[in-house]
Amino acid sequence: MTNTLKIILASAILFTFTFCEPKSAPKNNALTEAVINQKVDSVLALMTLPEKIGQLNQYTGDNTATGPITINPNKQQEIKEGLIGSMLNILGTKYTRQYQDLAMQSRLKIPLIFAQDVIHGYKTTFPIPLAEAASWDLEAMQLSARIAAVEASASGIHWTFAPMVDIARDPRWGRVMEGAGEDTYLGSKIAFAKVKGFQGENLNNVNTIMACTKHFAAYGAAVGGRDYNSVDMSERMLWETYLPPFKATIDAGVATFMNAFNDLNGIPATGNSYLQREVLKGKWNFKGFVVSDWGSIGEMINHGYVKDGKGAALAAITAGSDMDMESNAYRNNLEQLVKENKVSMTLIDEAVKRILHKKFELGLFDDPYKYCNPEREQQALNNPEHTKIARAMASKSIVLLKNTPLGEEKGARILPLSKNIKTIAFIGPMVKLKRANHGFWAIDLKEIDSSYIVSQWEGLQNKVGKNTKLLYAKGCDINDDNKNGFAQAIATAKQADVVILSIGERWNMSGEAESRSNIHIPGVQEDLVKAIAATGKPIVVLINAGRPLIFNWTADNMPAILYTWWLGSEAGNAIADVLFGDYNPSGKLPMTFPRVEGQIPIYYNHFNTGRPSINEDKIYKSAYIDLPNSPKFPFGYGLSYTNFKYSDLKLSKNKMKSDETIEVSLKITNTGKVAGEEVVQLYLRDKVGAVVRPIIELKDFQKISLKASETKTITFIIDKEKLSFYNEKVEWISEPGEFDLMIGSSSADIRLNSIFELTN
Ligand code: NOJ
Repeated sequence: MTNTLKIILASAILFTFTFCEPKSAPKNNALTEAVINQKVDSVLALMTLPEKIGQLNQYTGDNTATGPITINPNKQQEIKEGLIGSMLNILGTKYTRQYQDLAMQSRLKIPLIFAQDVIHGYKTTFPIPLAEAASWDLEAMQLSARIAAVEASASGIHWTFAPMVDIARDPRWGRVMEGAGEDTYLGSKIAFAKVKGFQGENLNNVNTIMACTKHFAAYGAAVGGRDYNSVDMSERMLWETYLPPFKATIDAGVATFMNAFNDLNGIPATGNSYLQREVLKGKWNFKGFVVSDWGSIGEMINHGYVKDGKGAALAAITAGSDMDMESNAYRNNLEQLVKENKVSMTLIDEAVKRILHKKFELGLFDDPYKYCNPEREQQALNNPEHTKIARAMASKSIVLLKNTPLGEEKGARILPLSKNIKTIAFIGPMVKLKRANHGFWAIDLKEIDSSYIVSQWEGLQNKVGKNTKLLYAKGCDINDDNKNGFAQAIATAKQADVVILSIGERWNMSGEAESRSNIHIPGVQEDLVKAIAATGKPIVVLINAGRPLIFNWTADNMPAILYTWWLGSEAGNAIADVLFGDYNPSGKLPMTFPRVEGQIPIYYNHFNTGRPSINEDKIYKSAYIDLPNSPKFPFGYGLSYTNFKYSDLKLSKNKMKSDETIEVSLKITNTGKVAGEEVVQLYLRDKVGAVVRPIIELKDFQKISLKASETKTITFIIDKEKLSFYNEKVEWISEPGEFDLMIGSSSADIRLNSIFELTN
């Protein structure tokens, strides 16, 4: 990291933790658990059954709907009657105040909770979550969630539907953009950091919002990567791979959970008692509340799990879904179900209490307008510190995929670009886009224009001096077959010393309901790359996407490639920082990039099989006859403008008992000429297990920064937890035996190895 960026980040962290508390913020008046419980009981005692059921209803408001449009012309009246507990998609203090006013006209004046999908920023938009995950920088990710909470809370929002912690091994699934990728260990660390960021120290602080862990559970394993599809998996796989990030958010104190659209082994997650009652509220002792996904209670009719809305309401409340988002199933059926003694009052009360509890924790009973201060909103949404933090986060999320030497001048590479280049041609359909840089799940702030978003073109303009001439050509559109723009793009490239080509998928080709069967670069964009390559000019390719894409020709033929995802409001500046070496790229892929769709699902921590293909041999081996097994780019991969040498691996001992630990130390040296950051990754393999174990598994990592020629010693601790796994009875155990220790720069670039033994 350059010194300037380091200073920005350090001062940003200091700023956020020290000064984000607005002047008007009340002192921390957090009530004790016992007092809250007492207050909840006293409110509950006053409530009629319709009022109780009302607390369990959530409806969408007037802003852009984030699910199938529903119409309920009586919402406002129902709020006045105390029949709605929460609203989503109402943004801005002006509007949240109006709605809270309605709630204050109700008999018991129970405040509404305002929810929103604040996924990667509010006004200041950070990289999409998959891109942030590529930073492997937990502190930075916590900070981006903190800023999102500061802005959203100032704008009237109490609750975000984030983080999405679904492990995803299928890049066809559009929602991979919203999670942390394929790895359980990395995903769990990020899930924890995100909750801490959103919720801050205490929910009673006015600049915090409730987080919501979603989608419980296993939504990321939808068959064929098709959104909303079924999931079928062993209980052991569920526990080992998919549930740990959910548990990590419980450890971080998450306030709420959202269930999921999918069925899991034949039972819709929304009506799944095992997941919600047995695991979440039982084994994990979760005290918050569970909201359904949009309409997912009603959708149990389509699943063929229940006959009608009444059956859906019964199944969901019984299974532990506390709040109904947009199904109308609770509103229309719960009262009758209680009258028929099919749903007990205790069941209703339990759900209501969980929701009221959060309203007390947020301090809304003391002051329902606590989050409705327009002055504070104005300040928070126009804070230049937030912009700096977004720029640093975006730079950290970029992954350098390729930077090969150019030939003649030995060792010379295109990147970083020199600031003395005379003419640069910036070509491609993404170059001048503004809002697209936000990617999917950006907040639709209708009253704010997009001038604050820095396009890639503007970022380059901001970066170069007046001696550099910038040329532009669009070349083609993102997703059609028209090549009419090629001639002009080629002519433009010919006038330049260096070409930057910006290609990729449209911002909303990944996201909810955006699964793709073909994950190649869409349209004729790779033909454009070929056409520009024919000019013989040095080319840097930027790939913008919400998932791993396939771009084999570009990957094989272009000398310099940066994976730039969707980076948020500071995209242009961050890309320019990396292009010119003001930030040395440090991102590492959080998902495996396949060569072709036929390899999917492809993930690094697979089993060995009985016939493993070593060195890609195929005869009677677990292989494809028409494809290598290896991916195009492996998990954990990413280059830097410098090089790192790994050396001096030492283990404090080679045998450990299960109540002991081994300290692992090694040296990392920056052998290049510029400062840089490296993500040192520690992987293990349990060589023989009661159930077969992955050939390699991430168990720890550290992101360190080193000046040119600097050496640092880093240490990791191996304990029993890192050596444990779920056996066939789904018990968390460790077994005596040998383990391979592998430390490297990616899952496929192991630099240091050792073996140690667990003796009991
Ligand atoms: C459906 C999505 O699956 C969920 O993640 C989101 O929070 C809700 N819609 C609300 O927008």
